[in-house]
Amino acid sequence: GKVCLAYSGGLDTSVILAWLLEQGYEVIAFLANIGQEEDFEAAEKKALAIGATKFVVVDVRKEFVEKVCFPAIQANAVYENVYLLGTSLARPVIAQAQIKVAEENGCFAVSHGCTGKGNDQVRFELSFYALKPDVVVIAPWRDPEFFNRFAGRNDLLEYASSKDIPVAQTKAKPWSTDENLAHISFEAGILENPDTTPPKDMWKLTVDPTDAPNTPEDFSVVFEQGLPVKLVLAGGKTITDPVDLFLEANALARRHGVGRIDIVENRFIGIKSRGCYETPGLTILRSAHIDLEGLTLDREVRAIRDQFVTPSYAKQLYNGMYFTPECEYVRAMIPPSQKTVNGVVRARVYKGNFIVLGRSSDTEKLYDETESSMDELTGFSPEDTSGFIAVQSIRIKKYGEAAREKNQP
Ligand code: ARG
Ligand code: SIN
Repeated sequence: GKVCLAYSGGLDTSVILAWLLEQGYEVIAFLANIGQEEDFEAAEKKALAIGATKFVVVDVRKEFVEKVCFPAIQANAVYENVYLLGTSLARPVIAQAQIKVAEENGCFAVSHGCTGKGNDQVRFELSFYALKPDVVVIAPWRDPEFFNRFAGRNDLLEYASSKDIPVAQTKAKPWSTDENLAHISFEAGILENPDTTPPKDMWKLTVDPTDAPNTPEDFSVVFEQGLPVKLVLAGGKTITDPVDLFLEANALARRHGVGRIDIVENRFIGIKSRGCYETPGLTILRSAHIDLEGLTLDREVRAIRDQFVTPSYAKQLYNGMYFTPECEYVRAMIPPSQKTVNGVVRARVYKGNFIVLGRSSDTEKLYDETESSMDELTGFSPEDTSGFIAVQSIRIKKYGEAAREKNQP
């Protein structure tokens, strides 16, 4: 039968490809273009040389930006206060493209090179099962026949050379990465010691903030219903196409060293893991969005959203639960929370920082300068506020009395 393998051109998936052929399967190699730096032609040549029947690249960049990155900005999505979910966001889009390729090519099974300890295996496989419940998943890194045979990198290299699989001459980096339009991740290897400071040359997308230009760069972002619709750069360059806007936001943040993250996070399967991430564009667009909500979003809508929608959505994304009834429900709650989030944020990037310069909205009248002013009285009189405090204090006085009694000798 035919298997659709998520193939990267690297050592692991090349060995997996050869191994699947050895098991008697026919292999369709699949590679998603999700904005990673990659030699797609070299990967194609390699897959076909190893023996894949076909190599299919699917460009999912537009879908990735419009369907998941922008809604993540709209929801302020964040995991454990720090991680902007760059890898998690990409998985549903990649899984969907892979299942489509599998179906179009009559594959009964899909395969991937995720390890047995990570989040990605869960994310991919739960997505596969939601999209094609009868699919068979071949996960070699969880198959004893495979992992006992390839116990270390040397076993992989030996097998590769026995199969005439070319291995890149460049020395393997002492960490592993995953890259897409939203971010690059660095994990494992020397980073496994959480107290090891990432070496300066690990970071790839952003300049070191200490080396960033001495001149700040100002820009503005226009939002409609919480979605970025226009980016205006200092020189007046204006970008509205979502993918271009996202790319330009990335470029802007990258040249000023904005978006570096270092976290020890809790993986879904229950182990802690140290990760370093560069999330340039998403960092500035999300920060600008959060700022605009201050001006335009009702206090109680915001409170419910923050308490329920944002954390649920982030957890669902992280745990690979995108194609589930609960995530469908939570995603549907995002747009209604954003009806009033219209306006412009003027901001600056400078030496690793995102700085707000000002914000405005033509449509939202929740903020009233006269009302907020300390110098003027409008709408209510000072006596009204005395009553407000008096009523609020009923409960608090009781609390105070009880506390005083307890402390009395
Ligand atoms: N820890 C991050 C996450 O779970 C990044 C994972 C990176 N994945 C990878 N295969 N290198 O989302
Ligand atoms: C992996 O590729 O399996 C490790 C990273 C993760 O999925 O968390």
